[in-house]
Amino acid sequence: MCIHNDRDVIAATPPPTLIRDVVLPGDPPRRGMAVAIEGGRIAWIGPVAEAPSGDAIAMDGRLLTPGLIDCHTHLVHGGDRAREFAMRLEGATYEEVARAGGGILSTVRATRGMSAEALADAARPRLAALIAEGVTTVEVKSGYGLDRDAELAMLRAARALEGVRVVTSFLGAHAVPPGTDPEAYIDKVCIPTLEAAHAEGLVDAVDGFCEGIAFDPAQMGRVFDAARRLGLPVKLHAEQLSHSGGARLAARHGALSADHLEHADEEDARAMAEAGTVAVLLPGAFYTLRETKVPPVEAFRRHGVPMAVATDCNPGSSPMTSLLLAMNMACTLFRLTPAEALAGVTVNAARALGLADAGEIVPGMRADLAVWDVDDPAALAYRIGFNPLHLRIHGGVVS
Ligand code: NIG
Ligand code: FE
Repeated sequence: MCIHNDRDVIAATPPPTLIRDVVLPGDPPRRGMAVAIEGGRIAWIGPVAEAPSGDAIAMDGRLLTPGLIDCHTHLVHGGDRAREFAMRLEGATYEEVARAGGGILSTVRATRGMSAEALADAARPRLAALIAEGVTTVEVKSGYGLDRDAELAMLRAARALEGVRVVTSFLGAHAVPPGTDPEAYIDKVCIPTLEAAHAEGLVDAVDGFCEGIAFDPAQMGRVFDAARRLGLPVKLHAEQLSHSGGARLAARHGALSADHLEHADEEDARAMAEAGTVAVLLPGAFYTLRETKVPPVEAFRRHGVPMAVATDCNPGSSPMTSLLLAMNMACTLFRLTPAEALAGVTVNAARALGLADAGEIVPGMRADLAVWDVDDPAALAYRIGFNPLHLRIHGGVVS
């Protein structure tokens, strides 16, 4: 399934450019390569000696990767949860905080009432941190509004962000608003709001939180049925805190991705593989919540489930704005190889978003690229808190 995100039109025909003398990731990495860019797309790849003539940028043997893709974020939100961070350090669990009206609901209180402009302003510094690390595509979810006006404001804010390609997910089924019956919320608020957001062109995919503290598979299934009626792909926060049946539900609905997955099992991996559902791993949430159960990475490998890696940037369970750090954590905490981590923020992240024209360095793809001051692809996941970005190219334009 592919989302055609025409809103991010490639900048008016940038001049043809040749990126000379780069290392391309692979097994083994290819040295002495050149990449030609034309019309904002990759036009040619080959050895420097065979490169077409044209304006060249010499890269002196640096690593060239696809622009990074952060395929799971809650970048747009009001306020912060520093107080809750302190509470958890005093012993409260994430679920206890949530049940006491904190957690997601405290961000809902901070987000409601903010205009789309104010929400976009609040998100821009977080986005700048991602862009500074070579990110060229960001997925942004709603889900802290939980009413029509605030959900729409979040999605309008996401669409207003500049400098990257933005892919939106409607996450109306993120939490049950206080004093509301979950069944009534799904039917009378969540689904009608999804329809209104879709009518405004604000939705690229539909997401949900399938968990004891959120929605059960039957409730999520109704939201997914509504998504199908609108022709929208689905994805799901699944098996994060307990085994709730979310991964298999996602697979049954042909989801683009199931995300978190610490409590997923072998059968979930099998179902996801058959459905082509990407496993999006979120080590920032695992780390912040001090989880001890790791996602079944070995089962994903065995069954051929593509694995993506994302920041899950949000004010509670993963207040992280570094995709390079997420790569490092995916290796150190989840035992991904550095090559798997790189695939997780490029080709597999594109797949988790249904994007067929990004995430790989192949002729015809968008010229969304990153040049790094390293020559070994493993170096990207290796350092902690160090950013080796040399140059970022977005839609063929150096930026
Ligand atoms: O991806 N799991 C549910 N949703 C978010 C948490 C959001 C929050 O704590 O505000 C997540 O971890
Ligand atoms: Fe999330």
